[in-house]
Amino acid sequence: MMRCKFIGIMALALVAATGSARAADRLVVGFSQIGSESGWRAAETKVAKMEAEKRGIELKISDAQQKEENQIKAVRSFIAQGVDAIFIAPVVATGWEAVLKEAKDAKIPVILLDRGIDVKDEGLYLTVVRSDAVYEGQVAGEWLAKAATGACNIVELQGTVGASVAIDRKKGFEKIVSETPRLKIVRTQSGDFTRAKGKEVMESFIKAENGGKTICAMYAHNDDMAIGGIQAIKAAGLKPGKDILVVSIDGVPDIFKAMADGEANASVELTPDMAGPAFDALLAFKANGTVPPKWIKTTTRLYQPDTAKAEYERRKDLY
Ligand code: AHR
Repeated sequence: MMRCKFIGIMALALVAATGSARAADRLVVGFSQIGSESGWRAAETKVAKMEAEKRGIELKISDAQQKEENQIKAVRSFIAQGVDAIFIAPVVATGWEAVLKEAKDAKIPVILLDRGIDVKDEGLYLTVVRSDAVYEGQVAGEWLAKAATGACNIVELQGTVGASVAIDRKKGFEKIVSETPRLKIVRTQSGDFTRAKGKEVMESFIKAENGGKTICAMYAHNDDMAIGGIQAIKAAGLKPGKDILVVSIDGVPDIFKAMADGEANASVELTPDMAGPAFDALLAFKANGTVPPKWIKTTTRLYQPDTAKAEYERRKDLY
């Protein structure tokens, strides 16, 4: 009886010392996710859940439906709940200062996933886990500069307006185009990283470009828009991958299927595992104050049809 009373008192003391019962056992991370606009995004969410579970972390995910205002609300709600850390995949690069300052004042570390932000004070976040998206655009451009031997009119499907990855993927690709006089971007517009808008925009490009006959290549900032574009090319009676070359970014199973079927030519891989390195950085920071590098850079790799079938099989269940 005496022993039970003693354990009860100790438990109460622990709760008082840590501020809450759950802080004594599990780390709680709030994740403001952009939405589910692409296959890649859905995979990133799935991997984040798996990586959290592996480490015994409680992950609270809030879906922003591609709106920054929803992300800001979610971050404020995570602050009010007193989570141990906040992950944000920022839909656009600007407008983050005020809410990040609130998180900092509450002493809650913030880690950015897969996209960057424009802030004067980089101390507003602990680290960002993302690829070099300028380099991704360059890799796509270099592939095209080799694949298209003659003059080539390119149409570009851009990602979400204001998203760091859309800005950077455009910049990297344009660099190669400017160095290669044979290549010319004749049309460029946002397809908001979705398959439906990619299709819609490509349909309008085809109409404007002599039924698609004056288009040599389509560069899409992600695979989902490329898949939508491929549908539009086929509907116009042209052969994607042959009449119009297709190069995009992500490396999702559907693009490997399209490559295996001869309807796409190249994809630059972006790993969906952004949360794993973020959790590791957070755990080290919480354990002994280890400050991670400001940019945890993921690797970039170009894939082509030669390995498409095997890559599709390898990835189809993960995504
Ligand atoms: O920020 C990463 C990009 O966002 C992916 O390339 C795209 O598919 C997603 O929606």
